[in-house]
Amino acid sequence: MIFAKKLAEALNMKNLFADRVLNNSTADLDEIFKNSANPENISFSGGFPDNHLFPEADLKQAYQDAITNDGPAIFQYQTTQGPLALRKKIAARMQQHAEVPTTANEVMLTQGGQQAIDLVAKLVLNHGDAMIVEGPTYMGALAAFDTYEPTYYEVPVDQHGMDIRVLRKTLRQHPEIKLIYTVPDFHNPTGTTMSIKRRQELVALANQYNCLILEDSPYRDLRYNGKSVPAVKHFDTEGRVIFISSFSKILSPALRTGWLVADEHLMTELINLKSAIDVQSPNVTLAAVNTYLDEHDLDAHIAKLNAAYKVKRDAMLTAMDRYFPKNVQYTRPNGGFFIWVTLPDNVDAHELLTDVILPQAHVAYVPSSCQFASRKVKNGFRLNYTSLAPVTITRGIQRLGALLQPQAAANLQTAIQF
Ligand SMILES: Cc1ncc(COP(=O)(O)O)c(C=O)c1O
Repeated sequence: MIFAKKLAEALNMKNLFADRVLNNSTADLDEIFKNSANPENISFSGGFPDNHLFPEADLKQAYQDAITNDGPAIFQYQTTQGPLALRKKIAARMQQHAEVPTTANEVMLTQGGQQAIDLVAKLVLNHGDAMIVEGPTYMGALAAFDTYEPTYYEVPVDQHGMDIRVLRKTLRQHPEIKLIYTVPDFHNPTGTTMSIKRRQELVALANQYNCLILEDSPYRDLRYNGKSVPAVKHFDTEGRVIFISSFSKILSPALRTGWLVADEHLMTELINLKSAIDVQSPNVTLAAVNTYLDEHDLDAHIAKLNAAYKVKRDAMLTAMDRYFPKNVQYTRPNGGFFIWVTLPDNVDAHELLTDVILPQAHVAYVPSSCQFASRKVKNGFRLNYTSLAPVTITRGIQRLGALLQPQAAANLQTAIQF
């Protein structure tokens, strides 16, 4: 993005670019992710699954079997919504894993959850339209929403999910709000899960103020402790909740296979929008995912992931308990991919990363500013624990903790309790 801006300026083409491109505020992330790709660094920044846990041989077999079984039709254009057999399986999983009774007609396959976010934004948001996002929130969703240039209202997240008192007040003050975006299960980036009571209150408020809810839940099945709670969509009484999820975190992100569940009145429009963008998701992959689900027990695979990720989460928390200063706060998630760290108020986590942590500790994280729509909160960062081996996690946290000590000592007031 920085490159695009500079090139446009140099060639005097800047006036040709739409505002949404020039306003995109995730540009500095390029730099962070570039640095974290350096093999000398220990990167806690990406939301990556563990490479070693992909069911490589099973997926290879599934692709082969899908091509053999489906014959030449597998290479033909298919429907925008995706293959019926796969939509039926997803509908069954929605009942089983999220307590959402649905049918194949209410399911659409998308190119990852990311495309589903974009489709919903496109369905709802005109330039300047009001929407709610959590603060902090998934930065990829902000990147998608940014291109529709909405007016953001930010609602904080605590250990029980979105703060419903603030949500209520915000909706009262801004009844024009159209869309509420939430990541209720093992939230990206804080790892927290919304309580059942708040899920019910959220739906009641959406009904009262005539909003849509976008429930984004790719981490739902990755639970290491405690009991699953029903999806927000479970409490939906008026067809206002659009639920999205993905095979990215539970199978492989390279499949670019996600799904969206919406009542039929919304689905018709969403299908039209997707058709205009890419006609359909790649059918060979969708057929392979369907075949994988026929040939293997996805839940057994997820149980394997959960066992491995629990060890990694525990390794990170144990190391943080040991090496982090006492006035640095962090979440203790029951699942998902991330831990959120809150530094003392006046520490800028982005500056700290580029000036101190990366050059001296060779450790990378994602600073808070790009995970808030307001970009104003500077004293936090996100850590990912799923992609690295436990021993590397411990080493990285030790190095990070050593450099946080002087920062914390210089700012002895307690950080805001998350
Ligand atoms: C909350 C959330 N939503 C959506 C996505 C998009 O994932 P994908 O497009 O790979 O399904 C991610 C990926 O990190 C995420 O964390």
